[in-house]
Amino acid sequence: MVTRLRGLPSTRAAATVRPGKPATVLVVHGPNLNLLGEREPEIYGRTRLVEIDRRLRELGKELALEIETFQSNSEGAIIDRLQQARGRVHALMINPAGYTHTSVAIRDAVLALDVPVVEVHLSNIYRRERFRHRSILADAVHGRIMGFGPESYMLGLRAIRSLVEAARSAGA
Ligand code: DQA
Repeated sequence: MVTRLRGLPSTRAAATVRPGKPATVLVVHGPNLNLLGEREPEIYGRTRLVEIDRRLRELGKELALEIETFQSNSEGAIIDRLQQARGRVHALMINPAGYTHTSVAIRDAVLALDVPVVEVHLSNIYRRERFRHRSILADAVHGRIMGFGPESYMLGLRAIRSLVEAARSAGA
């Protein structure tokens, strides 16, 4: 039996994982992450987003997870993508980028998705400007990984694999 913590999405994935079939993970990248590799490389590094997505798909194969990736600079497009995923995906990994600190609407869409969620950031937002220290999503996700550059995403995917397994053994 999974305990549903107040204000947190349950660990029960809304979509059913069929035995022998990989679980589907939606990976959402927020605004300006399309510029990775060029944008503030001293903070975000030189790795491009296509490379991160490629590595995620590769690791996904190893972990028996099917990866869907999505990047948008628009809050509405991110919300639409999260809504489309309802009942279809088993977990979410999200780097809301600048919207981390501002978007109640993305937080609401994440909660409506009702699957295990991991928030990731390339940089350690607590080592940066004060306005980045607050994440509006922080208490709406299962866990948060930050500060490891592109590796944050790989660690996040491993965490998701554990969450999906936990949901599976709880009978989701
Ligand atoms: C970021 C941190 C955010 O504060 C910033 O707006 C980003 C990227 C990160 O991955 O470190 O665009 O989410």
